[in-house]
Amino acid sequence: MLETQDLTVRFGGHVAVNAVSCRFEPGTLTAIVGPNGAGKTTYFNLISGQLRATAGRVRLNGQDLSALPASARTRAGLGRAFQLTNLFPNLSVLENVRLAVQATREGAHRRGLDLFSIWSDHGQLTQRAREILASVAMGAQEAMAVASLPHGDQRKLEVALLMALEPQVYMFDEPTAGMSHDEAPVILNLIRALKKDRSKTILLVEHKMDVVRELADRIIVLHNGALVADGPPAEVIASPVVQQAYLGVGPQDACAQDGTPPQPGLPPRGGRRTNP
Ligand SMILES: Nc1ncnc2c1ncn2[C@@H]1O[C@H](COP(=O)(O)OP(=O)(O)OP(=O)(O)O)[C@@H](O)[C@H]1O
Ligand SMILES: [Mg+2]
Repeated sequence: MLETQDLTVRFGGHVAVNAVSCRFEPGTLTAIVGPNGAGKTTYFNLISGQLRATAGRVRLNGQDLSALPASARTRAGLGRAFQLTNLFPNLSVLENVRLAVQATREGAHRRGLDLFSIWSDHGQLTQRAREILASVAMGAQEAMAVASLPHGDQRKLEVALLMALEPQVYMFDEPTAGMSHDEAPVILNLIRALKKDRSKTILLVEHKMDVVRELADRIIVLHNGALVADGPPAEVIASPVVQQAYLGVGPQDACAQDGTPPQPGLPPRGGRRTNP
């Protein structure tokens, strides 16, 4: 189980993630929603170790990862989509995925310098890399240099590399942003397939509420860096904080819907945008 306890980061005077305590169970997909600037990506960065927390803890299966760098957290089982800047832009798509598969397997069982096993490994690694590329519908692009891929394919490749890691925890940050109508379903199908593996914990930052409604077992809402709602999708979607942030329902309307007064400090109406 992944757990954050009072996880906090300050940038100067600004608290971007404010004492967020949350547990994420294997076999569940948790959607993380909230308006732009709420702290969702920063929360992921604190979990994966791309950013060091000002305070608080990150634990995976009871192991405290808070002091570890990102690479060690990846080895421990936290999977964050690769930044394409970490890749080898002049190598092919297939070679990049094969390197990611190789890096993962070597971590698990490094073999000696035996030419036969290196050769047979190479074949197996290539086969696994091809399977992963097929799963993101990128088989046809395997020989292309990463640097020459269109934007949608770059995003799909990020997901392919995350698959190659075979992590315990998958963190998807707006995985279909910038994808075409043809490309987005490929990624959503992959997430649907992943959900069937009950040993995996999936965190999904997503602005598209239809996607959240379909995929999430649970929704948490971040607002101004703080956790303001947490619960089953239907309940959270009906809550005033989500109604206002996503559906443009004003405090009066939200109040009228369930009879409770609006929560203070809500985001401005229509204040969200979709990331580029
Ligand atoms: N490295 C940084 N230095 C200073 N401020 C930062 C840094 N990273 C994020 N922030 C600030 O932290 C806040 C949270 O940003 P974050 O990117 O986490 O929001 P988000 O919820 O992912 O938004 P979006 O939906 O637009 O992706 C913002 O006010 C942002 O400007
Ligand atoms: Mg973000």
